[in-house]
Formats: sequence, C-alpha cells, structure tokens
Amino acid sequence: MKFCINNLLLSISFALDLAEKDFMIDSKNHSKRVAIVSGKIGRQLGLSDEEIFDLVSYALLHDVGIVKLNSEAHIESHEKTGAHCIFGEEIVKDFPFLEKRENIVLYHHETYNGEGTFGKFDHEIHLFSKIIGFSDYFELLHREHLSQEEIVRDITNNIGIKFSPEIANAWLELQKTASFWLDIDDLFIDNVKGDLFPKICRDVDYRQIHETTKIFSPIVDSYSSFTGNHSSGISEKIDIMADFYQFDQEKKYKLLISADMHDIGKLGIPNRILDKNGKLTNEEFSIVKKHTYYTRRILEKIEYFGDIVEWASNHHEKLNGTGYPYGLGAEKIDFCSRLMAVIDIYQALTENRPYRCGMNHVKAMDILMEMVEKNEIDGQVVADVDKVFGGVLVENTSK
Ligand SMILES: [Fe+2]
Ligand SMILES: [Fe+2]
Ligand SMILES: [Fe+2]
Ligand SMILES: [Fe+2]
Repeated sequence: MKFCINNLLLSISFALDLAEKDFMIDSKNHSKRVAIVSGKIGRQLGLSDEEIFDLVSYALLHDVGIVKLNSEAHIESHEKTGAHCIFGEEIVKDFPFLEKRENIVLYHHETYNGEGTFGKFDHEIHLFSKIIGFSDYFELLHREHLSQEEIVRDITNNIGIKFSPEIANAWLELQKTASFWLDIDDLFIDNVKGDLFPKICRDVDYRQIHETTKIFSPIVDSYSSFTGNHSSGISEKIDIMADFYQFDQEKKYKLLISADMHDIGKLGIPNRILDKNGKLTNEEFSIVKKHTYYTRRILEKIEYFGDIVEWASNHHEKLNGTGYPYGLGAEKIDFCSRLMAVIDIYQALTENRPYRCGMNHVKAMDILMEMVEKNEIDGQVVADVDKVFGGVLVENTSK
C-alpha cells in the first residue's frame, strides 16, 4: 500500500504539542510553527522537496526530548542545560528520514557566534539545525506577542551574532508578505502545515510502518517516570500472544503498532498528575481518562489505521459498559481490543513502579479473574494469557 509518512508525523506532532504545552507555559503549536517557518526558509534557500521533507520532519520533532524531562521546571531552564537536545537527538536517530543526518536536533540551540548550548560555531552546525534554531527563536518572539516591527528589529540586530546572514536575510524577505504572518496564525496553522510539507508516499507494509511507530513507544514510556517500559512491555507480550493465536503477519504488525501507540494520548495529560505519588482525586482521574480519547484523535487521520485506531483506543473500555471514554459494551468491543485491554492490565500489574515492585503472574491473574467475574474483561483471553505466561515468574525488566 502507498503510505504517506507525512500523515503519521503530522498526527504525532499534535501529540508532541500537547506534551510541550505541559512544559511551556502559554504555548500552543510551538513545533508546528517552527516547522512552517523552517519549511518556508528552506524553500526560500532553494532546498529540494526531499530536503524540505526532512527539514520539516526534524522541525516537528526538534523538541521531542522535552517529553523525557520529568520535571515541572520551566522550559528555559532545560534549554540552558541542553538536556532536551541530547534526549531529542537520541530519540530521533531511528526515525526513517529520507536521508540520515547527525546532530540536527542536538545542535538546534547553537548560535552563529558560538555562544549557544554546546558552544558550536556556525561552520560546525548543519544548515537544518541553523534554520530550526532561527525558527525557534522567531517563535519565542512571536509567542511574546511582540509586534512585527519589534520582531524584525530584534532579528536584524542579531544578524552575525545569533544567526547567519544567509538565514536571517531569507526570513527578512519572507516576512514582507502578509501571508507569512497569516500562515503562522493558530487559526490556519494546520491547513498550512499540510500544504507546506511535500507529500512523500512509499510502498510499504505494516511491518515497515511498525519500524516507524516503534520509536514512539519509548517516547510515551519516558514521559512518565512511573511507566519506564510499559508500552514496550506490552509490545513484547502482544507479539507472543499474536503467535499463540497464529495471527497472520499483517494482523500481528497492526497489533504491535496499536501497542506502541495505545497510550500516546498520555502526552496530553499533565506530568504532575501522571507522576503523582498517592491516590488521584476524582478530578485528576477524570483528566487521566482523557488519554484514550486523545489517542483516538491522534491516530484517526492516518490512512490504513482503521483497526489500529480501535485496538489502540479501546483499551480502557469494559465489556459491561463501565469503561472509558465511550462506555462501549461487549458487542462493540472486538477481539483484538479485548486482547489489548487484558495485556495492558497484565503489563501494568507485573511491571515495576517507583513505589512498588511488579506482581508475579499468580497475583496478577487473581486480579484479572476478579475483573472477569465483574464482566469487565474477556475471560477467554485471560485464560489464554494464563496459559501463555503462567507458571513463569514474570521477569521485570524496568530499570
Ligand atoms: Fe528546543
Ligand atoms: Fe523549540
Ligand atoms: Fe491507557
Ligand atoms: Fe497502557
């Protein structure tokens, strides 16, 4: 099938923006705006479609390292340490860009005069990093609601200090049109983002799509310090169960993609709630419950993801209709959604958390059986999980 990676990345960027909102006070659409400005500068500088595709992809992902910073501290303090640059570089290294480049994310906070985060000078920084760094700086000014004149003045004053003349001059040309400023308005940003991103589709199967989505499970897992290996643990177990049921390869990889993405909506839940020590209040729990709804909204626009959307987003639904977010009953919950639900709970019970050790298989089965008795989860799937993982003290791999 012809699959457009753009679609996947644009959908995920929505999730990343949700996560950034938690760290950047009063910020919306930061990565999208940086991506749009970067793409426009790339065009102005005469980059090819393929180069712009990668540039926009890097720009959408440039602050992805933020999700690994489990702290309430304001973003500026992290930017100084460069921690999010290092984490981000590590995370994106396996993403299937059209061409492999190094240190694009790592050096997105360098400056022309070598006074940036890692003290690199202009000639040591890739053009993409420079464009993204410039666009990031511009976005900060834009976020502060400075007037267009004030922004132009600030940028002009920093030519040869923070920015290379090449990039700043390209931007100075671009910003002369009214459309530049309208394109970055929150109102139109999603339309523009799609237009600007060269559409690159490839003939791929679900196994290859899984190569891309598997980079997102560590992102989701690292967002909360409580769930060090939750999504990857689910992937491993789903893999084993898919073989047990003798599912064909396509179904197996669709399930693995669902496992990678099932909690991606958690990026939209404030870290202080996910990482709270102690019982959540009713209000906090109702916020946590939003995550599967977000997962659905993030994934639903991706082509060929029909089943995946269901299997990834229904994992907190219950057969007796008491689950969330829709309260679906048994007749609306298909087999793979039931499997995901059981494995999600089994993984959560058996994995280590900072405040407790993971349960062994027998204890976890007791809890699953209680849930079967209440008609919350599928008894046959639970029996199969017992058959497959039973007798073995489940090894906890979280660190
Ligand atoms: Fe950054
Ligand atoms: Fe940024
Ligand atoms: Fe969940
Ligand atoms: Fe989960």
